[in-house]
Amino acid sequence: VAGRRPLIAGNWKMNIDHLHAIALVQKVAWTLKDAGHDFDDVEVAVFPPFTDLRSVQSLVAADHLHIRYGAQDLSTHDEGAYTGEISGAFLARLDCDYVIVGHSERRAYHHEDDAVVAAKAQAALRHGLVPVICVGETAEDLEQQGPAAVPVAQLAAVLDGIADRLGDEAAEIVVAYEPVWAIGSGHAATPGQAQQVIGRLRETIAERLAGPLGADRADRLADATRILYGGSVAVGNVAGFLAEPDIDGALVGGASLDARSFADIARFRS
Ligand code: G3P
Repeated sequence: VAGRRPLIAGNWKMNIDHLHAIALVQKVAWTLKDAGHDFDDVEVAVFPPFTDLRSVQSLVAADHLHIRYGAQDLSTHDEGAYTGEISGAFLARLDCDYVIVGHSERRAYHHEDDAVVAAKAQAALRHGLVPVICVGETAEDLEQQGPAAVPVAQLAAVLDGIADRLGDEAAEIVVAYEPVWAIGSGHAATPGQAQQVIGRLRETIAERLAGPLGADRADRLADATRILYGGSVAVGNVAGFLAEPDIDGALVGGASLDARSFADIARFRS
């Protein structure tokens, strides 16, 4: 973690409609508040479906909640004749801080390749949104290429696409390592396995950006970028991940749909 502020993020995927979103966010916020959670110490964010975002925005603003939020996807385009698409501009107007790009479910079911993911990360940065760049290997990749090869190549491709958009602000991107075999399987990676890959991802940021940004800036960015682990994170295993030197938080799927579990995950230090 080393000076980086941990981020516990809940990806709701296609769960929880706008009628239920309010109750879930409220319950998470109040549970954490009652437990004396210090939001400056550990940041908490949720990623609801698009149709929930306006409700979440209103709630967060009205109740002055410290919960941050973002979308699960965005268009590579900014506006125009793109039926069914949602632009980064719309998300920025809903006060989103973040947007997930490159989740393995979009790569697998919507055929999003590295070029599309890079274009989405670029679109996010154009609108002042922090892209949460997801990378991860399948069980087959793991067997054939070892644990780090695919996630490193996926991250390198996105970095190449956004290098000219990165300023000096370290908080401009977040990376999430989600081994596909660990997602929704109940079989999380071990903290040691995750640290090994995430350490390589941090090195990749420094190496890949050294050319376009210069070694000093690239090193600073690598050092300051938060890299999360995702894949069957639960109350019982989160602390182990956060104890690793390069792991700065968690991207939580299933367990983020239950207010008590998600709040307990955010309170991994207690
Ligand atoms: O983006 C989070 C996710 O893919 C992990 O899902 O259900 O294994 O925590 P889950």
